[in-house]
Amino acid sequence: MNNFIYHNPTELIFGKGQLSHLKDKAAKLGASVLLVYGGGSIKRTGLYDKIISLLQEAGCQVHELAGVEPNPRLSTVKKGIGICREQGVNWILAVGGGSVIDASKAIAVGVPYQGDVWDFYTRKATPQKALPLGTVLTLAATGSEMNRGSVVTNWETQEKFGGTTTFPTFSILDPENTFSVPRDQTIYGMCDIMSHVFEQYFSHTPEIPLQTRFAEAILKTVIENAERVLANPEDYDARANILYCGTMALNGTLPVGVETDWATHSIEHAVSAVYDIPHGGGLAIIFPKWMRYVYRENVERFKRYATEVWGVDPAGKTDDEIALAGIEATEAFFARIGAPTRLADYQIGDEKLQLMAEKATPFGPIGRFKKLASEDVAEILRMCL
Ligand code: NZQ
Ligand code: ZN
Repeated sequence: MNNFIYHNPTELIFGKGQLSHLKDKAAKLGASVLLVYGGGSIKRTGLYDKIISLLQEAGCQVHELAGVEPNPRLSTVKKGIGICREQGVNWILAVGGGSVIDASKAIAVGVPYQGDVWDFYTRKATPQKALPLGTVLTLAATGSEMNRGSVVTNWETQEKFGGTTTFPTFSILDPENTFSVPRDQTIYGMCDIMSHVFEQYFSHTPEIPLQTRFAEAILKTVIENAERVLANPEDYDARANILYCGTMALNGTLPVGVETDWATHSIEHAVSAVYDIPHGGGLAIIFPKWMRYVYRENVERFKRYATEVWGVDPAGKTDDEIALAGIEATEAFFARIGAPTRLADYQIGDEKLQLMAEKATPFGPIGRFKKLASEDVAEILRMCL
């Protein structure tokens, strides 16, 4: 196991009816709040009205940034920064999925920064200060509710980059707020959660049994609950378990002491930057192909994945056959739950393959399980066509 320092300051407030805590939190954070949300789902579900009344009861003056796009845009972030500066906003409340939370994180670090907030995504600067941020999560997927990552798209330059920004101060997760997530977004979310585990599970670090078993537990829990939640979107326990998996997959628990990979996320971000496809859908296509491309780097790890996560019977099989059976089980699962399996599902051909491969590697080769140069990425994308 490698050395590590683990710190996570986000207060997680989880369960039915837990939104009631918002009033106390709001009263402590200041009188002027920027409420950030997406394209209107929170108005349709009634969550917006509940939040406005809790904020008003807490004595907050509410300013709003509505219309944050899935794959949030830098231009929207800058609009939010402008509102905060003009109105003297004290704190930010993000209500939505990963896109709304990520845009809010960017605003939170952008307000006190004199330069261009995009500097935090191009690695030119590191945030030193941030406005406090609270979140009410409505979609199980990114883990953004309990980490300090933020992914923003600069549409002018067609770049989608992740930056290290700020942890939410608190995050309220009521599984009932995810009942209304449409079927496709529910599927993408589960693929994203599993992909976060993959990025941290396929590693060469030896002697990490606890991290390994944590990771396998998350994967198995998603797999067990996936069809249940798709059959009945209002199954509270299935939604709760998926929601908690989403948080645990990317809140810093899994990578402690472990060399992690993250190449597939860089590849997906490059695809989304050019074609604006849903993040989890892109991952469902790319991850199994990445697995096929790299598994020989550590066949033992892929054998363990096959047998522990998918129950592959190793008897009578070669090492390669066991490893490949695990990858095939992953592909079959994604197909069974209705995730996209090829780039063609999003009408993506090979026209911009080279461009995407270059955009995936702007700072040099990516990944640690196997270092991938832009030619490797192009090859993986070709396998996805
Ligand atoms: O905009 P609204 O109307 O709210 O609709 C959203 C959006 O259309 C809808 N939705 C969310 N909650 C809903 C709901 N519809 C009905 N009922 C609800 N309860 O779902 C759509 C997708 O929302 P979005 O926030 O884009 O999805 P997700 O949470 O998957 O976030 C994706 C973004 O997060 C980034 C991705 O790259 C992508 O930009 N990521 C962020 C990470 C992080 N910060 O740690 C890590 C991830 O790997 C990922 O890269
Ligand atoms: Zn992801």
